[in-house]
Amino acid sequence: MKKRWARFLDKLAENPLDVKSEKDLKVDLDIDLHSHLIPGIDDGSKSMEDSIAMISRLKGLGYKKLITTPHTMSHRYPNSSNIILDGLFAVREELARRKIDIRIEVASEYYLDEHFLSLLRKKDILTFSGNYLLFEMSYVMAPADLSGMVFKMYEAGYQPVLAHPERYVFMHQDFSRYEALKEMGVLFQLNINSLSGYYSKEVKKVAERIASQGMVDFVGSDTHKMGQLDRLEAMRSSQLLRDVFENNTILNHTLV
Ligand SMILES: [Fe+2]
Repeated sequence: MKKRWARFLDKLAENPLDVKSEKDLKVDLDIDLHSHLIPGIDDGSKSMEDSIAMISRLKGLGYKKLITTPHTMSHRYPNSSNIILDGLFAVREELARRKIDIRIEVASEYYLDEHFLSLLRKKDILTFSGNYLLFEMSYVMAPADLSGMVFKMYEAGYQPVLAHPERYVFMHQDFSRYEALKEMGVLFQLNINSLSGYYSKEVKKVAERIASQGMVDFVGSDTHKMGQLDRLEAMRSSQLLRDVFENNTILNHTLV
């Protein structure tokens, strides 16, 4: 027994990385990359007051940097890069005026449609951390040519990141659709609140399945309103989220 223990200690000394420290097991989550915090331009924040309240609360939860991602969806939220950037500057100005110290940047959550393809051709895309492109699609119906669109994103020099894969109902009954996207190199951003059953039982189940297979690359809050933040607070310290971090290589901390 003594020998075995000594061998174990020797091995540990040789290769300390074999053993996870307590720090590694904690959820490292001070950067968020999906939210709707620019006032009045999509279904997220309704006013500057609303934005400041949500940002302050997110800061209180431990976030140090927020990459906020208003929708670009031509039929509902016809945002342009300029509209989004103007919104960012206004929010930053208000944060500075109130001496709220947090880093805030923007990208956009692009809906796959003709308008998106024309933006892609012009390379008029708001990305995060270099070339990550956050996209979404219909929840109920597969886009006409999803793999073609993914290919076009690569061709234009972007790394596609699918927002909340667990929320696409049309994919729920056919898990191979998820595998096919991963095979194409698409990164997956899971919504933290999906793990709590916030959207539906089915979404929670799919979120857990995707996570248990190590398919998650980013986790996001997808904050639209204050009401979501109590739940987010609870989820940030949940075992479910710790499991996601243990079973997946989560890249949020790389977005500095
Ligand atoms: Fe979103």
